Amino acid sequence: MHDKLNIVGIGPGSKEYLTLGVVDLIENSDVLVGSQRSLDLFDYVNAEFVVLQPRDIPKTVQTAVNRLHDGLVVTVLSTGDPGFSGMLKTVKRLSPETKLNVVPGISSVQLAAAKLQIPWDTANLITIHGGKAPTDDLLERIDESKDNIILPNRHISELAEYLIDNGFNPKHSMVICEKLSYADEQIVRVTLEEARNMDFGYMCVVVL
Ligand SMILES: C[S@@+](CC[C@H](N)C(=O)[O-])C[C@H]1O[C@@H](n2cnc3c(N)ncnc32)[C@H](O)[C@@H]1O
Repeated sequence: MHDKLNIVGIGPGSKEYLTLGVVDLIENSDVLVGSQRSLDLFDYVNAEFVVLQPRDIPKTVQTAVNRLHDGLVVTVLSTGDPGFSGMLKTVKRLSPETKLNVVPGISSVQLAAAKLQIPWDTANLITIHGGKAPTDDLLERIDESKDNIILPNRHISELAEYLIDNGFNPKHSMVICEKLSYADEQIVRVTLEEARNMDFGYMCVVVL
């Protein structure tokens, strides 16, 4: 009988950032729960795959807990690290009684810091991921004396526009780290003015 739900970090996306311990846990699971992108990394594993749909997270978490109660080894895959804008908060909120085994992964924030050679103990980490639009709270959280490493909400252009509208110099620089660890990774340094007119996918870390 397995009494803990595994929540594991699978890193930013490419296999090279997976840890051996996480791979071992995943390969020995009966049920894997995660986004399609996460599950695709482990398509060779003989397990039941439960796709986490952003619109149906409570139902999917309940399915994971039910399988655990059935006596199966259940592992929830969280991109990056589960503890930073990841599945840990979600599962704790939706199923506070469930015992957990949390295994860290390399966060996209860590990889962005490494690529840009920023010691992240001195950086200001911010997430507005999942929010609809930037809010005033963001302005209070930005610390201009530090590197601000931000997990943005969907549109970087909207974030750039918001910052300009709220007093940031349009020439202020913004570094956008897109699809870190993938073959088509790109890291660009632009001004807020330029970012306002650019199009990026949802997989970006921004440094201000
Ligand atoms: C649900 S959050 C998960 C964050 C994750 N727990 C972490 O530690 O990286 C998803 C967001 O993380 C960022 N992200 C995840 N993987 C990324 C990657 N490979 N490159 C750039 N950003 C990434 C993007 O901002 C994406 O929208």
